Amino acid sequence: MNGLPSPNPLLAAGRLAADPRIAEARRLLCEAVADHQKSLTGIRPPIPELRQSYDQMLASLAEKRGSPLWFPYLGSGLGNGVLVELLDGSVKYDFISGIGTHYFGHSHAALIEAGFDAALSDVVMQGNLEQNGDTVALTELLVEISGFDHLFLTTSGAMANENALKIAFQKASPAYRILAFERCFIGRTLAMCEINDKPAYREGLPPNLHVDYIPYYDPKRPQESTQEAIAALEKLMMRYPKQHAAMIFELVQGEGGSYEGSREFFTALMTILKAHGILIIDDEVQSFGRLPSLFAFQHFGLTDFIDIVTIGKLAQVCGTFYRKDLRPRQGLLSQTFTASTSAIRASLAILQRLHKGKFFGPEGRIAKIHERFVKHFEAIAARHPQLVSGPYGMGCMIAFTPFDGHAQKVIRFIHALFEAGVIAFVAGSHPTRVRFLVPAGAVTDEDIDQVAVIIEQTLLRS
Ligand SMILES: Cc1ncc(COP(=O)(O)O)c(C=O)c1O
Repeated sequence: MNGLPSPNPLLAAGRLAADPRIAEARRLLCEAVADHQKSLTGIRPPIPELRQSYDQMLASLAEKRGSPLWFPYLGSGLGNGVLVELLDGSVKYDFISGIGTHYFGHSHAALIEAGFDAALSDVVMQGNLEQNGDTVALTELLVEISGFDHLFLTTSGAMANENALKIAFQKASPAYRILAFERCFIGRTLAMCEINDKPAYREGLPPNLHVDYIPYYDPKRPQESTQEAIAALEKLMMRYPKQHAAMIFELVQGEGGSYEGSREFFTALMTILKAHGILIIDDEVQSFGRLPSLFAFQHFGLTDFIDIVTIGKLAQVCGTFYRKDLRPRQGLLSQTFTASTSAIRASLAILQRLHKGKFFGPEGRIAKIHERFVKHFEAIAARHPQLVSGPYGMGCMIAFTPFDGHAQKVIRFIHALFEAGVIAFVAGSHPTRVRFLVPAGAVTDEDIDQVAVIIEQTLLRS
């Protein structure tokens, strides 16, 4: 049921898992959570007597970590679907879901159960030296659904991308350059910061990679922008023959502002890359599970081109899939942790639900959620064309541009939206956009309708 083999009575752990007291305790815990969740039925403002202690906690955290939080979010540890309770007593719609991790919302029964089972496990964290059976189950499942040969698990999206680059560089050695798209974002390690097309993220850091940028697709100029990208790539091929190890693709750019390419655009570039023997890395840390297919490469029909894929965020674990001809030599990949046991159990529960639920395809939940947002934004834009444009993005990666997309105004708007009970986040620059990573496994049509009303009211007030 949870993707794990049935408890084996030959093992003490198997007998523990089958102990009726465990089932009863699990049932009682889930019942208690469900009872208390019932009081979280809609957004509500902060409770005045909690204000002071909340502000103190925020100030203390800012002081201890050396910088304030982006917005004043401190969760209470309880939520109900897309609704989350904060420690100031407010309840808000969480439409950014921890930048894409809480896909099934807050306090989902299956994830609480997974956490309960993980708490009974002998270890909190699993690692590359000592793994438990649940890591085997997860790795097998992910490899099967991806169609790739191998998967190396790790603890962050950035580290999954680091491992992807290491695999690619080792295979393509002595090629040492990397190709990336303008506006890309792929994580925050030293190497990733060199690749991100965002100078502020590498200010003061020493250069450590040779990166060449290709312009991204422009849906308003499909043919011209494809030709421009091809011309840029071909020029680089001539300037640096046999020096590029890989190109890293975000098939939908999230952090950069919710921009997507097209099958024709990607195919044109990937065909040239293949002809030059350059490996193709597909960064799906953000897009995995959010488009009308589980993987973005499936949605765009690019399966045969991709050599390496990375995932993270909603999967709860992060990892690098690769083909068998890319197996790295001993010593290249490892680290202490693979993931926490609760993340591994939660990941199994999530993948089961993604697999069984009707999320994907043209009539799937993700397509329906997207349609509903489009309908609302078109209606708001028709009523107030000067206030908003969009929505942009695909599936459950949704963004819009308030006003003229001026960064300070948009950030002020996101904070006003937070105060009004909707949690969103910023994306891109020139224009700066507001984005949602909609928790598709929790959101209802009514939630979307309510949030659309709050967006419109906040736009009018701002
Ligand atoms: C496309 C993409 N790649 C990589 C990352 C880095 O993931 P992490 O923050 O888990 O290191 C992100 C994070 O937002 C991302 O959006």
